[in-house]
Amino acid sequence: MSPLKFTERKMKMICLLLAAICSPVFTEDWKANVVKELDALVTSCVAIPCSFTYPKDNLPSSKLRGIWHLSDPPTSLVYHEDQTRVLDNFKGRTHLLGTLGQNNCTLEMAKVKDHDSGPFCFQIELAKTNEPTRDKFSFVEDCVTLKMLHEPPTPTLTKPDTATVGRSYTVTCSVKHTCSSHQPTLTWSRSTDVDVKSYREIHSGNWEVQSILTFTPEEKDDHEDITCTATFNGMKTSTAKFTLYVKLYILDIVYFGPVQHIGRMILISILFVCIFMLKKYNMWNRNSLILFPSSSWRVTW
Ligand SMILES: *[C@@H]1O[C@H](CO)[C@@H](O)[C@H](O)[C@H]1NC(C)=O
Repeated sequence: MSPLKFTERKMKMICLLLAAICSPVFTEDWKANVVKELDALVTSCVAIPCSFTYPKDNLPSSKLRGIWHLSDPPTSLVYHEDQTRVLDNFKGRTHLLGTLGQNNCTLEMAKVKDHDSGPFCFQIELAKTNEPTRDKFSFVEDCVTLKMLHEPPTPTLTKPDTATVGRSYTVTCSVKHTCSSHQPTLTWSRSTDVDVKSYREIHSGNWEVQSILTFTPEEKDDHEDITCTATFNGMKTSTAKFTLYVKLYILDIVYFGPVQHIGRMILISILFVCIFMLKKYNMWNRNSLILFPSSSWRVTW
């Protein structure tokens, strides 16, 4: 690579970097970013991620008002800080999880009904100084459609194929959901064991709850059914189950296993048989010496 080319590349990279740093300043405009489609479990809740940008310099956030409405007709309000203006169907079921001052218009819808599919669109209103009227900024392209789930997703179990007596065993149970404000709870049939829970966002609005169960299997745990139950907000549940097969290491069988006595008895028996055979052989040898003095016969025998 020539030195000229190298500096050219370097310049290009610096320019790109500068552009990346500066662009938000120039492009900051009225813009909303709403997830396009999201699953929603009927009876549970759904949290619809939403963020927006606006030209900050001349606008205090206290003058902002966030509204969610149906795409058709847009006058039907799904969320408004003044509850009386909200459609009866949505009264008391919607609230903003996000803080508008932090450019966050995330909406929570509780007790989802099977006809709540939307599309729902975000709109922002801005109070003009010294005027009762408000400017409206609608983001008609930024609407969300909810896909209704009547049954909750089933948890996924990840585990090693076999468990071994006395050796630590780990099972992971995870389930997906779309209500980050009320995560489902995961419970195990083995309630005495320790489990570690974690939550993560897979992609916009889609979350996963995970529970890791760790225990040390005993012989009595063989063929035990282990279940992981997910209880969603709204009390719908789903379950995943597997049967535990506990194995013993081959060395463990001899030393600690359930057949240890049999094992020892067989070992001792073999030992006795060997000693007996050895003695008998020697006796025959001596006898043969007496009975058949000819060494040639002994060789062939
Ligand atoms: C918006 O607010 C919600 C609820 O508080 C939060 O979970 C989410 O992370 C926020 N989004 C951003 C981009 O800050």
